[in-house]
Amino acid sequence: MPLRESCESMKLRKNTTIYLVALLCLQIPWLKEAHSQLSGKPVFSKEISKQESIYQSRGDQVPAGYSTDRSLEDYTRGLSSDFDRTLAKLGPKDRWLDIGAGRGHAILDYYMLSYDLAHPEWREQRGSKAQTVAVSIEDRRASRWQQEASGVGANKIQYLFSRRLQEYSREELGQFQMITDVIGGFSYADNLSEFVEKTLSFLDLNGSFFTLLQDVHSEAGTNQPFYAGARFLTEIAKSDGTEMKVCAWLKSITCVEVTCEFTTSWKPPIEAYRVRKVCNNVTVPVLIPLNYEAGTPPERRFRFSEPSSTPSSSQ
Ligand SMILES: C[S@@+](CC[C@H](N)C(=O)[O-])C[C@H]1O[C@@H](n2cnc3c(N)ncnc32)[C@H](O)[C@@H]1O
Repeated sequence: MPLRESCESMKLRKNTTIYLVALLCLQIPWLKEAHSQLSGKPVFSKEISKQESIYQSRGDQVPAGYSTDRSLEDYTRGLSSDFDRTLAKLGPKDRWLDIGAGRGHAILDYYMLSYDLAHPEWREQRGSKAQTVAVSIEDRRASRWQQEASGVGANKIQYLFSRRLQEYSREELGQFQMITDVIGGFSYADNLSEFVEKTLSFLDLNGSFFTLLQDVHSEAGTNQPFYAGARFLTEIAKSDGTEMKVCAWLKSITCVEVTCEFTTSWKPPIEAYRVRKVCNNVTVPVLIPLNYEAGTPPERRFRFSEPSSTPSSSQ
């Protein structure tokens, strides 16, 4: 399945807006509980409520651009070229956290022989499987989950919902050797630096965080926004107004090694990131949220705050 969310979201923006307005008019009670670090800011609270309504949508009210059923094969094609090898090397003592797991298909696929058969590279290492934990704001599990997860075993595979990743403690979730996020919190968080700081706090030393963004200015700066006249979905500006690429911001985090791989094989194109934790004193430079527009995924603008003025540490 192509990673097509922003493409559809932009095409469907008008329809989605009409749908969201209708949904908001229903005054669904859970909207009152919409969580956000930004919810105190009136300028964002309406967008945060709209976003919450997307998370909680069901049946034919789910916006067409909100894909929750990507396979592990989709993850392998979208994430950085090292992902499949890292996955193969995980052993029974290792743990994999999938943030924003949707229906949890990727971690279910991981335990299926069919995935291993389709990936002969490193096959001898694939047999013994790691423990997996999926987190999602809303419970998107469907009949496939009920059928297959019990066969894997509750001590091996877990699906947690009703909270954002940022709301879990390290004591609750523990540490992971690999973390993935395919159009999950990394694409949806209103406070991106807080999200990344929390994510890296769950990552073991030498562990890797694999994620991606759609329709973002690549490290090389060779691409334009996918839609003429539109902006990139996630943008960062420095205090002097000049652009900071997402890749450069990730590389400004201390104690991590970052690779950024841009690919045009998806429409809109994606940049895949591998963030490897190489020491424990991780400091994530703060991004101040400037704008947030609900969507699948949302459009976000941030201002980079110089590390010397606002240090923060996850360890
Ligand atoms: C578009 S779906 C993607 C699902 C899956 N990764 C896939 O590719 O099919 C977005 C998922 O991210 C989750 N999500 C968004 N922000 C999150 C956060 N901060 N913490 C945990 N889950 C989050 C949503 O609840 C949902 O499960």
